[in-house]
Amino acid sequence: MRLAILTGGGDCPGLNNVIRAVLFQAVKKYGDEVMGYLYGWKGPVNNLIKPLTLADAEGIFNQGGTIIKSSRTNPYKVEGGPQKVIDNLKLNKIDALIAVGGEDTCGVADKLWKDFKAPIVCVPKTIDNDLNATDQTFGFDTALSIVCDAMDRLHTTAKSHDRVLVLEVMGRHAGWIATMGGIAGAADYILVPEEEFDVGKVAEAIKIRKKEAGYAVIIIAEGAKIKNEEILKDQEKDSFGHVKLGGIGDRLAKALELKTGFETRAMSLGHVQRGGSPTAFDRVLGTRYGLAAVDLVHQKKFGRMVSLQGNKITDVDVRDAVGTLRTVDKNLYEQTRVFFGDEIKSRTRV
Ligand code: F6P
Repeated sequence: MRLAILTGGGDCPGLNNVIRAVLFQAVKKYGDEVMGYLYGWKGPVNNLIKPLTLADAEGIFNQGGTIIKSSRTNPYKVEGGPQKVIDNLKLNKIDALIAVGGEDTCGVADKLWKDFKAPIVCVPKTIDNDLNATDQTFGFDTALSIVCDAMDRLHTTAKSHDRVLVLEVMGRHAGWIATMGGIAGAADYILVPEEEFDVGKVAEAIKIRKKEAGYAVIIIAEGAKIKNEEILKDQEKDSFGHVKLGGIGDRLAKALELKTGFETRAMSLGHVQRGGSPTAFDRVLGTRYGLAAVDLVHQKKFGRMVSLQGNKITDVDVRDAVGTLRTVDKNLYEQTRVFFGDEIKSRTRV
């Protein structure tokens, strides 16, 4: 067989582990040839392709990013784009394509499968962990460990200066990074896109927290909203229609300072969360996904996505993974409220 692989959307640690596993499984187990499409869906649209060999897999196991590059190209927003993908797959004699990506990349794969019966299988990726039909995407664990480290550091400096510090993390529509990072990093308030928040309420909670501990650390997802307001860096949209978010942390810090009189500062972790070496968990998950994706191809189970269910790798209809995002479990978020000052009138840090 002649396989191709592409990585689309925002990069994340673990992509190279998928590529490495695909190469080993395809070449060593099945005797396949492997091609890499460059820059996500831009590759098959513009026929940007190169052969991949086992030599390309050498030493990439601990490297972040993706050796075949990524982009947010949407073939359905390019004139004749879907047909170009199909024509280029034929031109390059590709028997099957492995598309590694999140909601957008897998959404395109789903459409191409539906519209053309294109032989595609998907691998779920995103630091946001917001893809449906899988318990976890790779990249999330690494992002979380970076956020956790930042929280640890913010606690010590906030405590030394009796300050309130606000950490803005990624998460457009789902607050998994904020929620889990907030739990791991002992946040005094967690703010997520799933629930609009009232600055006054947060201020009251922080006043209680200041009285108890002298300082406070807040974590907020970039997509969190003050009432109905969305904070946009600019109005520019990518080809999947997403606006660039950012700035909610600063805005919250200013509003809190006004309401409480406490010195409050904000920082945004931004793309630091997507960079660098993958954690052991993400290396293993990416590897398991890559191995399973090649098996799926050989079983001709196209239109499917590899998925983690419990501790098992299985596969699901890619349609089940796209369309609606997996948002933060309401019960889990509600449980974290016990750590917010507004829920408990008197406590000491444990
Ligand atoms: O890939 C997911 C993600 O990191 C989101 O958390 C974030 O909102 C977005 O990508 C940022 O995308 P870009 O790097 O294209 O600005």
